[in-house]
Amino acid sequence: MIFNTSPTDIIKIRRSVRTYTKKAVEQEKKGIMREVLDNLRGQYFRFDLIDFQLEEGMKLGTYGMIKGASTFIIGILNKELMDDYDAAVEFGYAFEGIILKATELGLGTCWLGGTFNSKDAMKMIALKDNEQVVMVSPIGYGGNIRGFEKLTRKLSKADQRKPWKELFFHKDFNTPLSIKEAGPYADVLHMVRLAPSASNKQPWRILKSHKTYDFYNVNMPTPSNKKQKFMMSFNDMGIAKAHFDYVANEKGLKGQWLKKDDIKDESFTYVGSWEWHNEVEDTH
Ligand SMILES: Cc1cc2nc3c(=O)[nH]c(=O)nc-3n(C[C@H](O)[C@H](O)[C@H](O)COP(=O)(O)O)c2cc1C
Repeated sequence: MIFNTSPTDIIKIRRSVRTYTKKAVEQEKKGIMREVLDNLRGQYFRFDLIDFQLEEGMKLGTYGMIKGASTFIIGILNKELMDDYDAAVEFGYAFEGIILKATELGLGTCWLGGTFNSKDAMKMIALKDNEQVVMVSPIGYGGNIRGFEKLTRKLSKADQRKPWKELFFHKDFNTPLSIKEAGPYADVLHMVRLAPSASNKQPWRILKSHKTYDFYNVNMPTPSNKKQKFMMSFNDMGIAKAHFDYVANEKGLKGQWLKKDDIKDESFTYVGSWEWHNEVEDTH
């Protein structure tokens, strides 16, 4: 994704917007967003943009309530990959790029896990047999935060992120990573910490080990943790990777993503690693 503004600045101003004004998204901005969506089309997922007037009481997402929106980004996944962790991570990575691009254009967004309960909206999306809508985000101009939106933010503690020492570790999960040990990656990790996540659960844990930052998901499937919720925690992991990637790139930190094959998942699920290039190691 190419941004014209600093990703750090975009990440800092993004927040979920659930109340929208009547002001329509300009055609020019829709055109930019359509181009972004086309470029992000992957092997297993694609994105669409539809204009659709949300009616009073129409449900979207798994919680919260969206008001007034009339343009939506739709995330569509191949049905066969509904249970695939890697696909969910990749999807999350791509969708967060879209969210940050919309934020750069001055548009409000809100990740909404699930689909429309409206036949009219679904007709506009024209799904193929093997496709399913898994994520939706309104795009538009945010209005005053009203009672129910305030309540949603309060219930999901939307403005509170876990402290650094509960998210980032060094060598093992008993040892928090110090800001000094993070070196040039401290700014990157600060921006991972601001990532949105389903119900603001922040399931990401990152372990600095030899030459890599290893990404783990702490959410575990339990009877009370329904499958859809569990899969969304892998979307959250993709979002964390996106923030890491964009900010590392902004800071000129070079590296590559890989998946180690010698990591045994214990209490957490390993999703992948960032291996930094040697020139960073000297100052790291
Ligand atoms: C994968 C995912 C699914 C989400 N699903 C919903 C949803 O169904 N309804 C909703 O109101 N918010 C949803 N959210 C938004 C989160 O509640 C929000 O990102 C979090 O509380 C942090 O607040 P912020 O985005 O304002 O920083 C979702 C976020 C993510 C990343």
